[in-house]
Formats: sequence, C-alpha cells, structure tokens
Amino acid sequence: MKRLLTNIKKLVHVENQPVPYLKGKAMNDLTSIDDAFLEIEDGKIVRFGPMTDLHGSDISGTTEYLDCTGQWVMPGLVDSHTHLIFAEPRAREFEDRIHGLTYEEIAARGGGILNSAAKLAEMPEEQLYDDAMARLHEMIQTGTTAIEIKSGYGLSTEAELQMLRVATRIKRRAPIPVKITFLGAHAIPPEYKENPDGYVDLVIDEMLPKVVEERLADYIDVFCEKGYFTVEQTDRILKAGMAAGLRPKVHVNQFNAIGGIQTCVENKAISVDHLEVMDEGDFKALANSDCMPVALPSCSFFLGIPYTPARKIIDSNLPLALATDYNPGSTPSGNLLFVWSLACIQMKLTPTEALAALTHNAAYALELNDELGSIAVGKTANLLVSEPMDSLGHIPYHFGRNSLSRVLINGNKYTHLEP
Ligand code: NIG
Ligand code: FE
Repeated sequence: MKRLLTNIKKLVHVENQPVPYLKGKAMNDLTSIDDAFLEIEDGKIVRFGPMTDLHGSDISGTTEYLDCTGQWVMPGLVDSHTHLIFAEPRAREFEDRIHGLTYEEIAARGGGILNSAAKLAEMPEEQLYDDAMARLHEMIQTGTTAIEIKSGYGLSTEAELQMLRVATRIKRRAPIPVKITFLGAHAIPPEYKENPDGYVDLVIDEMLPKVVEERLADYIDVFCEKGYFTVEQTDRILKAGMAAGLRPKVHVNQFNAIGGIQTCVENKAISVDHLEVMDEGDFKALANSDCMPVALPSCSFFLGIPYTPARKIIDSNLPLALATDYNPGSTPSGNLLFVWSLACIQMKLTPTEALAALTHNAAYALELNDELGSIAVGKTANLLVSEPMDSLGHIPYHFGRNSLSRVLINGNKYTHLEP
C-alpha cells in the first residue's frame, strides 16, 4: 500500500546519509526541504524530495494522497524515559510539597517511590495494563511515536517480574515501538533498610537472572543517588546487568553529583538520565563517549529543582536527548510537546535543537536510530504533521497546546486524533 504526502510546506530533518546521533552545533542544523513530497510504502519511507521531482515521476499504485498545504512534516517524537506503569497518582504528596516539604523529605517519610510500590502491590495486573495503555494512547496524540517503559515500583522479585510482564504485553500490542528497562534498584524497600547491600544482592542474584531468563527487559537501570544506591552499588548492578546482556540506562545526578556518570560511562551505558546537577568531572566523562545525556525538564518543572544544564551540554559539543520521565511522583505528564516548550523556555534550546533532542538523539538513547528519528529512506513512517505554520517555533511557543494536526504511525493516520 502506497501513501503520498504532497505539498508539504517544509519537510524537516531529512537525512541522506544517516548518522547515529547529533551533537553540538549539528543539533541546530537540521536539513529540510521546502514544498516537498514524501512517499510511504508498507509503513516505511521510500522516497522524498521537492514537489518538482514528483511531477512526471511514477506514482502508480498510490492508494491515498494526503495534501499537506501549509503544514510541516517531521519525524515522530521518541520518549526514551518513562515509568508508564504505576498504580495511582500521588496528588497527596503534590499538596505536601505545596506546603513546603521537599521530594526527598517526602521520600524519607515513606512516601515517594515506596508509596507507589505499596499501591502497586494492591492493584490487579489487568488494571495496571489497562491504565498504562490508556496513558500510552494519550501520549501518541501529543506526538510520541516510540517509548521506553521501566519497572521499579515492584521492589520484590515477584512484583518486579509482574511489572515487566505487563510492560512486555504492552510491547507486543502497542502500535508504536516499546523498549523495556529493569529498574529493580529504584529504592531500598523498608525490609532492607538496615541491609541495603542485601537488597543489591537480591537484585543481582535473584531478580536479574529471572528477568533475563524470561527475556523481559532490554536495559538495566539504577537510581544512583544519596539515600538510594551508591556509586559502588550502581557499579555492581550495572556490571551484572552487562554480563547478563542488559545495557545500562541510568538515573543519575538528579539531586547530587556523586560520581555516578563516570561509572555509567565505564560500564558502556547507552544513556545517563536526569543530570540536573553536574560538575566538571561529569562533562569530562561524557566527552569522547557514546553515552547519551538525557534531560527531563518536566521533572524540574514539577519538583521546582534545577534544570539540566542543557545549553552547556550542547555548547560543550556533546549530544543531548529529551524525555518526559512520566511517573506519579516527579512528573505526572507524558506530554513531549510540553517538554519541547520547557526545553526552549527554561533551558534556552532553539526549537531546532530541541527537535533533534526529541527525535534523532532520543531514538539513539533507545537504539532505535536505524528505524526512527529522522526522515530517511527505509526508516519507519512514524511522522508528525503540524497545523499550518510559519516556523518550527510555532509548536513550542504554543505551550500547553497541541499544534499537531496528525500523527502517522507506520504511515497510517493515528485514529484517536480523528474528529
Ligand atoms: O525519575 N528519581 C527516581 N525516579 C523517578 C521518580 C519516581 C517517583 O517519585 O515515583 C524519577 O524522577
Ligand atoms: Fe525516571
């Protein structure tokens, strides 16, 4: 089946010779074509170029035309960091923070991640699946066309496996690509409070072999932070994960710079995520590595913590990806269009840099860059069609509003957007 998008005002981020990711100045240099067409066959991009090239060429077999007059077409967004599966919102803690408690103080009182773990234990698996799927469908409407999902609210072998099985069902049935991350080391459960290393042993010796045996995950994650897991514990878990075939993808430097980034880079992490607090050693560790720094500005917005120094990261000739961190505690939003606005408004990225971070580099952070992240022949036709507009900045400028007119998944119009 062939579909042809015609009269595209601007086709953004086309690549003739695909590269794995973009860094530094190249992030602000997305190639585009004015007055363009794009041809899709069996869900893949097969041809694109200026409309003048289309005239007189063979368009036989085209079953559908989509006229994009005035509209821009760009690669679909990729959310490389979410905790999509959770039991309940934590609006009570939201109010506690309004009254002055910090995220860390709430966690120390048994709220936070432990609160979500207790709630998850009470929820039937079917409900977890249905709720997560509903969130996923909502996210696609704001441009998300591939997603990562973590465990981490189980904190016991059975409950972690259950979360990963739910994630695996979502992976099989979701209309978009899904990658799964095992985050057994998200918090120390109360029964291990006096023996955190005992919990690390449980993650390594009991959980990990089962996760791998059942093929339930693509990556391994740890919350490397004061009060959670030390750099040494993180190193042990990442090494065990790597040995078992799971590449690291790590929560690090959210509140404190404790040397975790260096450990992640040494252990060949595909990405390091959060990075609200970074020192010079962290920048050095990232230079000359292929590890993608991932900023989560909605988390900074919601918790009122510093924003990742994204400008400095890009100006240091490093790459950067952006993701939501959708979770009930620090980021109750899966809206990547809002992340785009925050990246521009709060982190001073240009709309073009932010788009590179939300597409190409985010796809790299999930090792999906061969199929997604740019307009290239052979890549999957997960695409966004904007409403009529004059500049890319139109989308992040209208913060809190959806300026997309269509999301295409495998070249098909995503039906939830239909009136
Ligand atoms: O990425 N920081 C660790 N984990 C999540 C928050 C999880 C929660 O509060 O439930 C995050 O922000
Ligand atoms: Fe997170």
